[in-house]
Amino acid sequence: MMTGLSLERGHALAIHNLSLEFPTFSGAIKALDNVSIDVGKAEIVGIVGESGCGKSVTTMAATGLLPKGRYDITSGSVSLFGRNTLAMDDGELQDVRGKVVSTIFQEPMNALNPTIRIGKQLTDVIMRHEETSLPDARRIARDILADMLIGEPERVMNLYPFELSGGMRQRVLIAMAFSCKPGLIIADEPTTALDVTVQAVILRLIQNRARRTGTSVVFISHNVAVVSQLCDRLYVMYAGRIVEHGATRTVLEAPQHPYTQALLRCLPERVAPKQELEAIPGAVPSLLHPPAGCYFQPRCKEAVDLCRSRSPRLAGAEGQQVACWRRGVASETSGQEGRQ
Ligand SMILES: Nc1ncnc2c1ncn2[C@@H]1O[C@H](COP(=O)(O)OP(=O)(O)OP(=O)(O)O)[C@@H](O)[C@H]1O
Ligand code: SF4
Ligand SMILES: [Mg+2]
Repeated sequence: MMTGLSLERGHALAIHNLSLEFPTFSGAIKALDNVSIDVGKAEIVGIVGESGCGKSVTTMAATGLLPKGRYDITSGSVSLFGRNTLAMDDGELQDVRGKVVSTIFQEPMNALNPTIRIGKQLTDVIMRHEETSLPDARRIARDILADMLIGEPERVMNLYPFELSGGMRQRVLIAMAFSCKPGLIIADEPTTALDVTVQAVILRLIQNRARRTGTSVVFISHNVAVVSQLCDRLYVMYAGRIVEHGATRTVLEAPQHPYTQALLRCLPERVAPKQELEAIPGAVPSLLHPPAGCYFQPRCKEAVDLCRSRSPRLAGAEGQQVACWRRGVASETSGQEGRQ
């Protein structure tokens, strides 16, 4: 599952065969099934898939953000810059989340303190992370805000969060994430609530600053088009499993898995004028009672008998891997231990 790029630069995040369940009175919700994801240092990686596919659970489990005692990890390991986050207590996790990894979520209002001016919130974070005077911290804050294309950063620093538009608040939050100087930023659909044009600009700001500072990024989105412009590699998730993985260009130009192909057919920009936009028929299966065999089988036009009884494993060359019985090397060799 490793690419040459990740190996060269070393790991920021290495999730290996992670399986995770949420126990409920009706049984276990199998949210993740042998998920493996690598993010190299200074690499930008995307995780895409429909709602409920496990994108957030994967990164939240890796960074200790899931509610304690409400889930079971049934297999796998997580290494964040060489540290095992699954073995950490709350204090250690908090430390890691402050210094090593920052997550940017969708609603910035929840992450900003509504009663404290933007400037103070930023300088507090900066001074918590490096020994610096208040004037220096203000200068750093101003620079990062300017980097987020916020005009008049000095004026914005004197405002309260409610005085900013949604797009501006999101930029402040991104500035906050970068001001911790983390090695890894996880951007979990951070702009979905915003206008499409604003979305594109803001995501590009994250990408630009990450490239300049050598920060690794995981972009999470249900929209392949949104992340494909930004990422070196893509992971496609379906119902808690990685079904395809590869260099962004390869996945976009030659998608292998029927699910990836279907996701791409849903993109308006890929459809010729007057041609009908396709939707993927059916829905993501219940993870409480997932279907036997390949989880995509109830929606897949190419399904054969084998698909209904046995789970394909992720297999293929390093540049592109796919979990599908109908593709190339019959997926028996490595990686994902599918539930049968
Ligand atoms: N705390 C929880 N308790 C029980 N089930 C949960 C919990 N959190 C997530 N799940 C389930 O785990 C599965 C994966 O959820 P997750 O939030 O990772 O999806 P997602 O891919 O991020 O979707 P979206 O695009 O909507 O954010 C879903 O079936 C969800 O209902
Ligand atoms: S394994 Fe079978 S059902 Fe699953 S995606 Fe491939 S062809 Fe479709
Ligand atoms: Mg999510």
